[in-house]
Amino acid sequence: MKLKESLLSRRQLITGFITGGLAWLAAYTIYPVAGFLFHKKKIPLPRAVTMSRAEVDMLAPNSAVYFKYGRLPGVLLKTDTGQLRAFSAKCTHLDCIVQYKPDTKQFYCACHEGYFNDTGINTAGPPPRPLDVFELKEEGDKLVLSFQEHNGKTA
Ligand code: FES
Repeated sequence: MKLKESLLSRRQLITGFITGGLAWLAAYTIYPVAGFLFHKKKIPLPRAVTMSRAEVDMLAPNSAVYFKYGRLPGVLLKTDTGQLRAFSAKCTHLDCIVQYKPDTKQFYCACHEGYFNDTGINTAGPPPRPLDVFELKEEGDKLVLSFQEHNGKTA
């Protein structure tokens, strides 16, 4: 049995699919962009984090270990001579995570070939300023790391 008149014409059906697809694509694209542009609430950083001194002592010279400082990734470096330095692990160009390269004693950002020396100074590539630096303090058997946001920025 064949219907004399279809409830939906072929044209209406195709138009509906296209309109629905475009609406879905617009929502899929606009929602994350709007979330990024209008997201104002920033989770505050902790006042300090601690690491056990025993954990730090086990760290080999000329190596680095990563830690979390709230929403911020940090990296603790133990130099050849046993000196400790801590930096934000976020590259100052576009926030990629830097890696410590023991062979060259540099921090390397793979995103755009950025380099920082072992004191956190930007030495090559697009990073515009040094890595942000953490303050280190020993309290008993703990190493206390604290951070002032944007402490390495010149502006
Ligand atoms: S994000 Fe590190 S060099 Fe671009």
